[in-house]
Parts: sequence; C-alpha cells; structure tokens
Amino acid sequence: MKHFLGIKDCSEVELSELLNNAQLFVEKQQSDNASLKHRFVANLFFENSTRTRFSFEVAGRRLGAQVLNFHEAVSSTNKGESFLDTLKTIEAMGVETAIIRHEQNGILEAVQDHVQLSMINAGTGNEEHPTQGLLDLLTIKQEFQNLEGLTVAIIGDIEHSRVARSTCFGLVTLGANVIFSGPECFRPQDTDLVQTSTWLSVPEAIRQADVVMMLRVQGERHSNDINVTTADYLQQYGLTKEREKLMKSHAIIMHPAPVNRGVEIDASLVESPRSRIFKQVQNGVGVRMAVLEKIMLPQKDRNGSSSSIVF
Ligand code: CP
Repeated sequence: MKHFLGIKDCSEVELSELLNNAQLFVEKQQSDNASLKHRFVANLFFENSTRTRFSFEVAGRRLGAQVLNFHEAVSSTNKGESFLDTLKTIEAMGVETAIIRHEQNGILEAVQDHVQLSMINAGTGNEEHPTQGLLDLLTIKQEFQNLEGLTVAIIGDIEHSRVARSTCFGLVTLGANVIFSGPECFRPQDTDLVQTSTWLSVPEAIRQADVVMMLRVQGERHSNDINVTTADYLQQYGLTKEREKLMKSHAIIMHPAPVNRGVEIDASLVESPRSRIFKQVQNGVGVRMAVLEKIMLPQKDRNGSSSSIVF
C-alpha cells in the first residue's frame, strides 16, 4: 500500500489488520514508540480541520516522526504553484508522506502516479475520508465486538458527506447493514451507496439501529438551502430528546464532528451515556498511528502483539 486514498477498495483482511493495529495503539496510548524516528511527514490541509489535522500530528509525534504543517494562506500556492509541484517540492526535501485534505474530488488519484512520496487522504471533497471511516468502525467494534449483522443508521446530509461514504464502504465490507435517512434533498444519488443501503424515515431509522450516526449539514460543499431554521431542522430531521427514546436500549450515538449542537442533535445528547462522540476522537489517534505505520513501515512484524479485543 503506497497511498491510502479510500476504504472503498480495502478488503476485509486489510480493514481488520488496520483495526487490530489501531486497537493496540489505543490500548498503549501513553507509551510512545519511535518506529518513525527521523522520518518526515507533512500535513497539507487545504480545508479547515481540528480533529484530523491534530490527531495526525499527535499520531506522527507518538511514532517519533517529524511532523511539518503546511499553511495554504502563506504558501507558494498563492504565487501560482500547482498542487503537484507543491508535492514534488516537499518530496525533494525528504518528506516521505503527505497527509492531504482538499476540497476537490479526484485530486489525489490525478497525481498518485507522478509522486514518489506516499499520500494519505485526510478528506477530499465529498468522496472519501478513510481514517474517519476507520475510527468509526473501530468505535463500533469496541462496543459490539463484531459488525456482522449490526444495523447502522447514518442520518443527515449524506449526499455531501465523505464520512458517510467511507464509513458505509467499511461497514458493508465487514457485514453490517446501513440505513440512510434525513432530508430528501440530501438523499444519496451515488450508485455505490444506493445499492448497499436502505432509505428510511428518521424515526424508523432510529428505531431499527444499533448505532445512530448523525451528520452535520455540510454547508461548505453546497448552496442547497433546505429552507428550514436550525430549530426546525432539529425537530424534523435531528436527534431530539424525544427521538432518543425510540432507540434500542443498547444503541449508541455517534457523530464524526464538528457537531452543530441544537441542529442535527440536541445539545444535551452529545455528552449523554449513549454518546461515543469523544471516544471517536480518542480512537482517531490510534487509527492514524496504524495507518502511518502501514504506509511507512510495510514490513513491520507485528507477530506477538496482542490486543484485549479480538477482531
Ligand atoms: N471529523 C473531522 O474530519 O473533523 P475535522 O474536520 O475537525 O478534521
């Protein structure tokens, strides 16, 4: 695996290996290891981020890597340098892995055969956000051990969500059932998603799910005005306190965040006993450590490692 661009083409074996290794890192979060000592990785974020950028930085540092942060506003892209030339420039300095977030679908695939360094997709357009998908899978596995036969409802702005895509691809590969729900105007059109999921009303999706995953309206990627106030959005499509009562007794709440409290989810449910929203963030560090090692230490012998969770 030279690049890690998406979950769509990952096999069950590849996903399970990444999740196992991520779980090992989660269990040993306080003990750093220097497997990437003296090696350089760069965060290239052309879109805003808190969780993904910082957790890749924490993950890289925990592995002993030197982590560089690119700031588009003060970079030479503003003097006309292309995306490919930016990559070739940092590659010439010795950066081995670029962690990239970009608004443009397909931009990583377009350059993948023209660079020597490895690329990790940190969220591109509405296409994929594979490390978010992995941390979602890890959080669900920690809760239920096995994804086979579980039902996961993903509710909200599906059409513009790269998280919905990556998480759905991983869930389906690992044997879970996916329900999508939300405003009709955000119903996915993508054949890959339509063929592998069911579309239900919000209350019915919540009733049937073992995992209720709420999504933010991705206003930065569309001008699709659904013509409701934030309060009306919560009442019509959100996870209100009343709808939370429809959930199965064992069901959990997830959200990739950032959360718009009081819009897609009642503010008080973010810290409720069912919520795993901050657990997802915590798992993000272990997942990104596993992905960095997978890309940068492909031959690492992990025999003998053991996790308290068997996936
Ligand atoms: N979930 C997620 O990608 O968050 P950030 O945009 O803060 O990285």
